[in-house]
Amino acid sequence: MPQSGNIIYTPEEIRGMILGLDTKVRLDNGEMVPAINLDNAATTPPFKQVAEEIHSRLMYYGSIGRGMGQKSEVSSEVYEAGRETVKEFVGLRKNDDRYVVFYTNNTTDGINKLASALIESPDDVVLTTRMEHHANDIPWRMRLKQSMLTCAGTVGWIFQVSKEFSRPSIASAAR
Ligand SMILES: Cc1ncc(COP(=O)(O)O)c(C=O)c1O
Repeated sequence: MPQSGNIIYTPEEIRGMILGLDTKVRLDNGEMVPAINLDNAATTPPFKQVAEEIHSRLMYYGSIGRGMGQKSEVSSEVYEAGRETVKEFVGLRKNDDRYVVFYTNNTTDGINKLASALIESPDDVVLTTRMEHHANDIPWRMRLKQSMLTCAGTVGWIFQVSKEFSRPSIASAAR
């Protein structure tokens, strides 16, 4: 049963927290049915609580970090406070300035930024698995001179895959 901290939620309770699960989409035959979301990573449905929170603050919306007006100040504060909330969510202490939370446009953008910060040389080696989405593959691969992508299995073994397998061209990998 899914669990968060000491709170245990049933699948029905979790479904109840998510917005839009009953929204219908049209099939080829014209029938309208609720969509089955098989790729949450690509299209994550919002939590109702998030939608409510955004809605309740929209009347105070002002540009973030760019204006002197009160709305801008309020919005900037909320935006910055969100970083501390994220820290807490991942088990860090709020205001622990050894860690920085930065917002990104999406997974690919985030991993691109991480890869450009972590890779110091094109000769670096990145351990990865065969099953990574391109979002967690190309950002590393494109910064490495050689095909040093290595495959790590679930039981702890590691082996280096062949050059051909590990480094298809970025163009073909992106297809
Ligand atoms: C499994 C998986 N991981 C990562 C991504 C990349 O996500 P983003 O579009 O946020 O870069 C996707 C997008 O389709 C995905 O399906």
